Amino acid sequence: MSDDTARLFAELLHHRMAGLAAGDAISPAIQPASTFLTPSGGSNAPFQYGRFHNPTWDQAEAALGLLEGAEVITFPSGMAAVAAVLMTQARAGARILLPSDGYYASRLIAEKFFGPFGVTTDLRPTASFAEGGFDGYALVIMETPSNPGLDVCDIALIAAAAKKAGAIVVVDNTTMTPLGQRPLDLGADISISSDTKAINGHSDVLFGHLATRDPAIAAALHDYRKYTGPIPSPFDAWLVHRGLETLELRYARMTENAAALAARFIDHPKVTGVRYPGLPSDPAHAIARKQTTSFGFMLGVTLADATAADRFIDECTYVQSSTSFGGLRTSGERRAKWGDPVPPGYVRLSAGCEPLEPLWTAMAETLKIL
Ligand SMILES: Cc1ncc(COP(=O)(O)O)c(C=O)c1O
Repeated sequence: MSDDTARLFAELLHHRMAGLAAGDAISPAIQPASTFLTPSGGSNAPFQYGRFHNPTWDQAEAALGLLEGAEVITFPSGMAAVAAVLMTQARAGARILLPSDGYYASRLIAEKFFGPFGVTTDLRPTASFAEGGFDGYALVIMETPSNPGLDVCDIALIAAAAKKAGAIVVVDNTTMTPLGQRPLDLGADISISSDTKAINGHSDVLFGHLATRDPAIAAALHDYRKYTGPIPSPFDAWLVHRGLETLELRYARMTENAAALAARFIDHPKVTGVRYPGLPSDPAHAIARKQTTSFGFMLGVTLADATAADRFIDECTYVQSSTSFGGLRTSGERRAKWGDPVPPGYVRLSAGCEPLEPLWTAMAETLKIL
């Protein structure tokens, strides 16, 4: 984490204090109201109807906005946030560029729901995303490190070239969070986050947000959410605000664990490959070193075959077998079962907050029985 991000995080923890008076609650309130008092002459009231505004969203958006250094618009899931980007930026006849190896649902919605409206989706692998030019693209969406393969692409280089060609540039920053990588500082117009993952971090809410410093993009996103209705629940916004307050601590432990596990896996005889951008031998290392302030909490471990991978996940006491990532508990998933372009024995691991030694002992014991 850079010094600037550290300062932003400290500010985030205290962001409510300036607005509090004696006797006010230190934590935000959950406001579930669908409608607010709007007397005649009250059309400028800050809260009118629950689809337009909500005070609990405001708290979550203020905290996330501090961390992003940008305006933040929240959504009920990461996919609702991705869809909002497409709905506000893709027009009939537009060409958009997406990673072929990123989270599959993003390319699925682009092709399945926007294709019939005349939007053409092209796909490129993350590792070679910078190659091939950006002429003719209205929208260029990167995901780096990519989920699940953990390849990276050079955000600053691509953002500069794609913007020169006239594209809106978007980065899905879910696998890093703003603590590890700051796409807007690197030239992106919009940063996407599935807050279901590390931002909330407790595996108990679906949530997403978009961050942008472009007032026109922000205004379009606000209108889209207000009029089409993909709004987060106030209770979920409250949970995310609470989860976010411990992000810095969780992220530090998770990234330390990921780095230590990667270094141990790479020397293990039962492991045929390790992907972790922090390993100097990893193909992603040079770019990750340049554009991230940590190497993240996700790693990929390739075992002999699908059976070995399934057994490792199912039998290791401290690996939670589940989809998703970024939670308190280390979790693992064999992503080839979903058709992702990774080897059959590839286990995507999301390092959790367990103390390292018991975690590694459990993993080493499980590797022995494979
Ligand atoms: C990189 C990435 N972006 C977006 C999403 C979608 O987020 P959600 O599940 O919160 O809709 C995911 C979900 O796994 C993801 O991994």
